[in-house]
Amino acid sequence: MTQRRDFPYSSYKGGNIMHTPKTRSPLALLASITLFAFTLALPQTALAADKSLYQRLGGYDAVSAVVDDFAAKLFVDPVVGKRFFGMSDDSREGFRQKNKNLVCKVTGGPCKVISRSAKVTHGGLGIKASEFNIVVQHLVDTLNKFNVPDKEHKELLAIIGSLRPDIVEVEDE
Ligand code: HEM
Repeated sequence: MTQRRDFPYSSYKGGNIMHTPKTRSPLALLASITLFAFTLALPQTALAADKSLYQRLGGYDAVSAVVDDFAAKLFVDPVVGKRFFGMSDDSREGFRQKNKNLVCKVTGGPCKVISRSAKVTHGGLGIKASEFNIVVQHLVDTLNKFNVPDKEHKELLAIIGSLRPDIVEVEDE
């Protein structure tokens, strides 16, 4: 994870929601100082728990690297790879980017979802449960390869697993 990639599809504008009042009452100042002191006194674990899954995964570059590795596995898989047969390099890049934005967003990151719903985009493909399991196994392998800790690993799988009803149409196992 070195260079931050271009982020062509993100529409996050990071609007400035802060505004500085011209005067500050002594009570407000005391409250600010107390809050600051309290924040410093918080145990690190409490602060870590406040971090989004996106942050704990390592942010956009980590998500991007995970999706690239995961997609590469899908494209060459002897079973599910057939689903992606005939896609141009550009379509593959679009597929990766859509998945990066999706994972970024659902884990709490500052991305916009640029894909249509899972139900719409997979509906009618007749995707089997066994295929879904292969795809999930590739994700598991990728997360293991990147040494993603158990907690974050499970949280991401739970989110992806929640899409199953929208994707699987044939219960073959
Ligand atoms: C495990 C959860 C999955 C996620 C998060 C996921 C995510 C996505 C996303 C974001 C897209 C792009 C949708 C768009 O164009 O708007 C997509 C397309 C697609 N997915 Fe999935 N998918 C999953 C499972 C599967 C499975 C199990 C299969 C079949 C083995 C599959 C096959 C496809 C295919 C064939 C496309 C269309 C590719 C194209 O022609 O552009 N997906 N998926």
